[in-house]
Amino acid sequence: MPIYFDNAATSYPKPDAVADSMRYFMRYNGTSTGRGTYARAREAGEKVYQVRKLLCQLFNYHEPEHVVFAANVTEALNLAIRGIVKPGGHVVTSSIEHNAVWRCLKMLERDDNIQISTVPCDSSGMTDVGLIEALVQPNTQLFVFTHASNVLGTIQPIRQIGRIARQHGIPFLVDSAQTAGAYPIDIAVDCIDILAFTGHKSLLGPMGTGGLVVNCERMIRPQKAGGTGRDSISPYQPDYLPDSLEAGTLNVSGIIGLGTAVSFILDETVEVIRRKERFLTHYALKQLQALDKVIIYGPDDPGNMVGVISFNLSDTPAVEVAYILDEVYEIMVRAGLHCAPTAHRLIGTELAGTVRMSFGYFNEKEDIDIVIAALKHIISKI
Ligand SMILES: Cc1ncc(COP(=O)(O)O)c(C=O)c1O
Repeated sequence: MPIYFDNAATSYPKPDAVADSMRYFMRYNGTSTGRGTYARAREAGEKVYQVRKLLCQLFNYHEPEHVVFAANVTEALNLAIRGIVKPGGHVVTSSIEHNAVWRCLKMLERDDNIQISTVPCDSSGMTDVGLIEALVQPNTQLFVFTHASNVLGTIQPIRQIGRIARQHGIPFLVDSAQTAGAYPIDIAVDCIDILAFTGHKSLLGPMGTGGLVVNCERMIRPQKAGGTGRDSISPYQPDYLPDSLEAGTLNVSGIIGLGTAVSFILDETVEVIRRKERFLTHYALKQLQALDKVIIYGPDDPGNMVGVISFNLSDTPAVEVAYILDEVYEIMVRAGLHCAPTAHRLIGTELAGTVRMSFGYFNEKEDIDIVIAALKHIISKI
């Protein structure tokens, strides 16, 4: 049986009910939301509203209208960053951001003359919170931090970072791509002003879903304009959520699939999911540490990690290891930079990349035994 260890890229499998609910909607409803006034369109609108409510429940938030849907977290992060940061502004971020944040900031630096300060972190990828305060400037307009590194698995101290942002009245945007659904997130307690999420990773939903939960009054300038189904006479994009940031027809079937996935997570509970992924990470780390010629990057404490482990086998190219695992053993892992070059700069793998194993709720301990046996075999030949 093939083994899938690339859940940090996208989770697989999904709960069966996810595809079932999407098919059911497309087959028996199939209408757009916010446009038609007939019963079936109202029903579709109600279903989407229920998903906004479920996401609020998951992240401890109270205003479903402040849940904005987008195609993925990349789009959501771009909406938030570009909608808040103005030319000449300054942004504080981590040293290990995914390109979804990093490229967006670098392009604004090049095109809009913004300044970027990156907070140093230790070799495991843990941000040094004590260094943040000194980076704040009069023109700081945003703090944006990933909640967990998709290369090293390191979970960032977002609550402490959020408190510093609050003290300075600066909006705090969190990229929850690697944590939403797999690690507790509490918008209120964690001092998050804007949470960006993606539906298809640890939220166990379909691709093409993601969004923002906006917990602040600050206006996020719309980056897209178009139909919303309401106030159509106005030549301008509405200034109220979610319409201000949702132009065009929504991915209704995808959102319904996401809602089914979030219901699954709420039923299982994030605590149970976290416990399982933490167990798998702990078990895999222990097994890997016992192997010769394995270089492991990132924290060695699964308490500070999501289910992501990066490693290399001596100087064997990461892509070669991933290729053999796939071709010979039917084990799917990812090799390369994982779209996060700054994290690789930290661990010195900017050129070589790493092999990344990432676990999901549906992996089992036995899957790890199989990959470890395969790695032993590969190691014996290098
Ligand atoms: C931390 C982080 N941010 C952003 C992304 C981008 O996710 P998406 O492709 O769903 O927009 C990823 C995906 O790997 C990620 O790990």
